[in-house]
Amino acid sequence: MKSIVDVTDLTIQELDEVVDTAMDIIKNPEKYAHACEGKVLASMFFEASTRTRLSFEAAMHELGGSVISMPDAGLASTSKGESIADTAKIVSCYADIIVMRHPLAGSAYVLAKNASVPIINAGDGGHCHPTQTTADLLTIYRTKVSFDNLTIGLCGDLLNGRTVHSLINAMCRYKNGKFVLISPDELKLPDYVKETIDKAGIPYEEVSSLEEAMPKLDILYMTRIQRERFLDPTEYDRLKDSYCLTEEKMKLAKPDMVLMHPLPRVNEISVKVDADPRAYYFDQALNGKYMRMALILKLLKENEEEVKSIPHGSTKHFNPDYVPKGVDAKVNVHKCTNPKCITQTEQELDQIEVNGRCFYCEQDIK
Ligand code: NCD
Repeated sequence: MKSIVDVTDLTIQELDEVVDTAMDIIKNPEKYAHACEGKVLASMFFEASTRTRLSFEAAMHELGGSVISMPDAGLASTSKGESIADTAKIVSCYADIIVMRHPLAGSAYVLAKNASVPIINAGDGGHCHPTQTTADLLTIYRTKVSFDNLTIGLCGDLLNGRTVHSLINAMCRYKNGKFVLISPDELKLPDYVKETIDKAGIPYEEVSSLEEAMPKLDILYMTRIQRERFLDPTEYDRLKDSYCLTEEKMKLAKPDMVLMHPLPRVNEISVKVDADPRAYYFDQALNGKYMRMALILKLLKENEEEVKSIPHGSTKHFNPDYVPKGVDAKVNVHKCTNPKCITQTEQELDQIEVNGRCFYCEQDIK
C-alpha cells in the first residue's frame, strides 16, 4: 500500500507530478470537483492544528469527497488507552484514506503498518511533517521555478521543528543547494538530519546570527520555538524570543528572497513584515490545500486496485509493507529511551534499530 509517512516516500519525479497536478487544480478546479465522489477521508488529529487539518478537510470537500473526524482528540478511544495499531484497523473500516497527526515520533509508521487503506502523516511529534514540505515545495516552485541552486536559511527551533526536518530531507535531493542553519546552540538540527545532509554531500553552516545570514539567502524559512516539545518550561521561556524578523532586518535580504514560515507564527516575524512582497507564508498555507488535493488524488488512484482486492465486509487484513529500511536492522536488542517516541506507549511494538538509531524516531538508540 502506498502511504506517505516520510517525504522520501515520494520520489522527486513523484513530487514533480504532484506539483503539476496542484498547478492544474489551481487552473481548472472544476475538472476535479467530483474526482473523489463517494470517498471518505478520516481526519485524526491528536495534536493542535489549524492549517493542516482544515486544508486536508477542505481539500477532500473540494474533490467532492467527504470527511469524518473527531471533534476533539480527547474524545477518541486512544484517550482510553487504545493503541495506534488498533485505531488503524478500526478507522480503515470506515474510511478510504486516513490523515493523522500525533504527538509521538514514529506513530505514523505504526498507523501505516496496520491500516488497510493509504495513510498520510500530518506530523508525528518533532520528527517529520511531509505534507507541509509539499506545501513548501509548491511555494518554492511558484516563486523560484526551480528547486536547484538555492541557498536556504532555516531559522528558529531546528531541533524540534518537524517541518524543517522534512524540508531538508526533500531539498537534499535537488542539485547545487546549500543550507544555512540559524538557531541558538540548544536548538540545533538533530544529528540524524545532519547525516542526511552529509550523505547528500550538500554544504551547510550552523550560525546563530540571523542578520549575518540574511544577505546570502534565496529562501528564508522561519519557524517558531516549539513550546510543546520542551520538557522544561523555563528553558522555553529562556529561548522563546531568540529571533524576531523585523522590517529593518528585511532590508538586509536580497530583493528576490522568498520569506517562508509553516505557521503558526508567535513572535518570530513582525506583523509589519506581512506587507513585504517577499513574504509568502500565507500563500504557503493556500498552496498546502492544493498539494493535499493532489496527494489525496494520487494515493486513492494508486491504491485503488489493492483496496478493491480486500474482501468487502471482512476485517482480516492489514498492511505489512512497512518494514525497516537499511541493511543492519536489529529487532528487540536495545530499547529506545526517547520519551517522545511511539515505542514508549504502543503495546507490544518491536524495538527496531537501524544503523544504531531507533527506526521510529531516528534518535540514537544506545
Ligand atoms: C507546523 C507543525 O505543526 O509542525 N504547523 C503546520 O502544520 N503548518 C509548524 C508549527 O507548529 O510550528
